[in-house]
Amino acid sequence: QMRNALNKLVDSVRDEGRHERFEGEMDSFFALFRRYLVEKSQANNVLDWDKIKSPGADEVVSYKVLENGADSNLAKLAVLKLNGGLGTSMGCVGPKSVIEVRDGNTFLDLSVRQIEYLNRTYDSDVPLLLMNSFNTDKDTAHLIKKYSSNRIRVRSFNQSRFPRVYRDSLLPVPTHFDDAVDAWYPPGHGDLFEALHASGELDALIAQGREVLFVSNGDNLGATVDLKILNHMLETGAEYIMELTDKTRADVKGGTLINYDGQVRLLEVAQVPKEHIDEFKNIRKFTNFNTNNLWINLKAVKRVIETGSLEMEIIPNQKTITRDGHEINVLQLETACGAAIRYFQGAHGVVVPRSRFLPVKTCSDLLMVKSDLFHLQHGALVLDAERFGPNPLIKLGSHFKKVSDFSARIPHIPKILELDHLTITGNVFLGKGVTLRGTVIIVCSDGQKIDIPNGSILENVVITGNLQI
Ligand code: UTP
Repeated sequence: QMRNALNKLVDSVRDEGRHERFEGEMDSFFALFRRYLVEKSQANNVLDWDKIKSPGADEVVSYKVLENGADSNLAKLAVLKLNGGLGTSMGCVGPKSVIEVRDGNTFLDLSVRQIEYLNRTYDSDVPLLLMNSFNTDKDTAHLIKKYSSNRIRVRSFNQSRFPRVYRDSLLPVPTHFDDAVDAWYPPGHGDLFEALHASGELDALIAQGREVLFVSNGDNLGATVDLKILNHMLETGAEYIMELTDKTRADVKGGTLINYDGQVRLLEVAQVPKEHIDEFKNIRKFTNFNTNNLWINLKAVKRVIETGSLEMEIIPNQKTITRDGHEINVLQLETACGAAIRYFQGAHGVVVPRSRFLPVKTCSDLLMVKSDLFHLQHGALVLDAERFGPNPLIKLGSHFKKVSDFSARIPHIPKILELDHLTITGNVFLGKGVTLRGTVIIVCSDGQKIDIPNGSILENVVITGNLQI
């Protein structure tokens, strides 16, 4: 039934130029769907906990022992930013990469400035690739026009567009190639390998003599090109390197590298048996986690795709869509590119400094990256030399979820160089020139309002109720 429905979708393509790629996408989707059904029936996505071992010394190495290589290595490098995601979690419509993060620069602007600076400094020609989805493609194309005269080649390609399926019947939601956007989904960043291959970008990069692709999340401001890791990749001949960083108690979500059946694998929380979840979160047992900064050999990508050997763990994601005023439960099957590590030879992890992991997932993160804790240097955020210890823990409540609300409530970013912990919940507004130090907690009860006046210095205080300082 699924195969027939997918064939009908393929037959509904009017645009000849889209036919071949779409047919390939539906074949890939079918393979994923079939594997999902088989794995579900065998419940074999949960690992045997007793077989999980800590990775060996050559499977996770420290960044500290890596050495610089020749600048000419840059001729072998291409950089890719994952750009398929929307800014919905921060209340924005359109691609997340267009959110302004620092001094008028969007995520995308910062990536471009970083690579431009690299190319200027080393007289290199490292290209920047963006993997878009059907959700982000148009807006991104419009945005990158402004870089056409810059010293950088920006290329973009689209990841696959897969059909969502009804949760009850498991049949595809779309019945026509041109059906509404919410009938489709981008199948996670694990789609990178297929999409790179199917778009022709993989062959083009290999033909240019590029050997290594540095991949990172578009929202990780710490993911800059690192010559030591590039050199290490080329010297060791590893086909895949995952940057890991040490866990703190706040990092309970990220996957970690393990040795399983003698092979390096990524262990995600979803694969952990319930009774071992606490152990998984234990920062002493699993000391580091995946930053999703990945260095991948391009010829190896071609091999694993052309031999059809990539079978990454499937992440089922349940959503609801609205049809004729009714909410309908749908399912989308996704994969993550970190899970591909087990299919590459010599694959291993490198434990990098925390500064290479600076993701902006929420407006709390946004406050930090906009603040005096950092300054901008050629598109990269550099931590202030005066700052000691870990970054502050910032928790802004639901009133600050959307970027627009955040900017209205905190129009001027406070000074936080000496801040350890900030919690703000409720109807709170910060004035201009505010300084926050130590632990600051501001809790406004329902129906009230707290205005922090211009120039306030708050140090180790708890502010509640309807306060006028
Ligand atoms: P997310 O923001 O969705 O993931 O995407 P996450 O919650 O950080 O966790 P991980 O990385 O999945 O563990 C991370 C990056 O991947 C891109 C997003 O645009 C973002 O840059 N992405 C996500 C895609 O390019 N395609 C997708 O289908 C999903």
